[in-house]
Amino acid sequence: MRFYVLTLFPDMIRDGFQTSITGRAVEKGILSLETVNIRDFSVNKHQRVDDYPYGGGAGMVMQAEPVYLAYESVAKRLTKKPRVLYMSPQGKVFHQRMAEELAREEELVFLCGHYEGIDERVLEEIVTDEVSIGDYVLTGGELPALVMMDAISRLLEGVLHNEESAEFDSFSDNLLEYPQYSRPQNWRGKEVPEILLSGHHLNVEKWRREQSLLRTRKRRPDLLETANLTKEDKKFLAKLTEL
Ligand code: ADE
Repeated sequence: MRFYVLTLFPDMIRDGFQTSITGRAVEKGILSLETVNIRDFSVNKHQRVDDYPYGGGAGMVMQAEPVYLAYESVAKRLTKKPRVLYMSPQGKVFHQRMAEELAREEELVFLCGHYEGIDERVLEEIVTDEVSIGDYVLTGGELPALVMMDAISRLLEGVLHNEESAEFDSFSDNLLEYPQYSRPQNWRGKEVPEILLSGHHLNVEKWRREQSLLRTRKRRPDLLETANLTKEDKKFLAKLTEL
């Protein structure tokens, strides 16, 4: 997977991405990251990339041309027109299924805006997907791009080690994850659930599945509507409503 990020703050993207697990994946050659500084494509002698909005109003708007030239500097090196993801609170809300779908692409271009947004005309020209990471407003698209790249990266073969496997974590079945415990067995008077010490693998699996179902029902009942439930899961949940 090759990530390209068009941004006014390339350091923020590089610093955020090139540490920890995603950084390790870059070193291993599974991922690559190229940042493109939109300011390098300014068409103004003062290196400005923003201007006042037509029609008036507060704030500044990022101009179309520097964004377009930054995009072109990437697109001209690619064999097909890439997906261009514009980070915006007005976009479709990002979720795990979208991460799975995007993880199948060979390259992705992220466009990060600042100020009061970007001139609509260049968005119409280059953006294929407008994406929000949630119903709140951030100062720019850099953190959303990092969030999305992180969620996508960990789904790629070889990025996680076996013990970090993405297969069983929250949302893989559209269920929340069961609670985890580690040593000591008694921490400040609080015991680890007995069943986890039993060494009985099947019982542990059953307990964990039930904890996932209980958690999801309590904290995110909306997820149960689309969860991958087995016959046993349904029976377990039906029993709870009888109580
Ligand atoms: N830019 C500002 N806020 C955002 C959000 N919530 N998601 C994506 N991009 C944004």
